[in-house]
Amino acid sequence: MPDIVVYPDSPSFIDGAANFIVDIADQSIAERGRFVIALSGGSTPRPIYARLASADYRDRVEWDKVHVFFGDERCVPPDDARSNYRMTYEALLDHVPLPTDQIHRIRGEIDPAQAALIYEQELQQLFRTAAIPVFDLICLGLGDNGHTASLFPGTASLREKERWIVPQYVEVMTTWRVTFTAPLINAARHCAFLVEGAGKAEMSQRVLEGPYQPDVLPAQLIQPVNGELHWLVDAPAAAKLHFK
Ligand code: 6PG
Repeated sequence: MPDIVVYPDSPSFIDGAANFIVDIADQSIAERGRFVIALSGGSTPRPIYARLASADYRDRVEWDKVHVFFGDERCVPPDDARSNYRMTYEALLDHVPLPTDQIHRIRGEIDPAQAALIYEQELQQLFRTAAIPVFDLICLGLGDNGHTASLFPGTASLREKERWIVPQYVEVMTTWRVTFTAPLINAARHCAFLVEGAGKAEMSQRVLEGPYQPDVLPAQLIQPVNGELHWLVDAPAAAKLHFK
């Protein structure tokens, strides 16, 4: 069973998520001397990233020991308004003393297959292993259609067993994405869904309590092999859950 934490409102959800990330950072740095995190995109995490960059939080993280990756990216240039990198840069990365060579962005502006390969090589270089990398924390969102990262319903990337990062054409959005695969996500020490708003209540209930149908609800694929699964949700998003 995932560890589900329900926050009464948006401010406590944002603070709760920021505290959660700081706690895992502290733990990871204490145990391994560094914190390797993959950030989620979309709109939900922006205020959480901004909170982490605020005076209340930024001095609580040893940023020189942090490596930031992205769980997925839209295949657009880094200055494009749809870029997850741009959103994260504006909300967090531009405001904290994180060495630039420890910001590992997906090159959304180049060929998606090439971008995926380059990102896998970057992981091999950092983790110095051909074995599947073990992130300290992978943050995830929940799409209205049950997707997470860029693992969309009915797409080939859902059946990937070997690759860590793949390009994925998303028919419903007529666009390319580059995404972490379920095997890479499920190798992490901590996976955390950050889910906010009444609009996510039904999908949260279906993913957490409904029948297992990952081809329809890809978020159900996220079941860490040796790690912990966390759901940080606000009360409106948790409104339809039975076991909270
Ligand atoms: C992306 C994300 C995606 C996102 C969900 C939820 O690039 O869009 O990584 O998986 O997390 O779509 O998005 P919202 O937070 O905007 O609802």
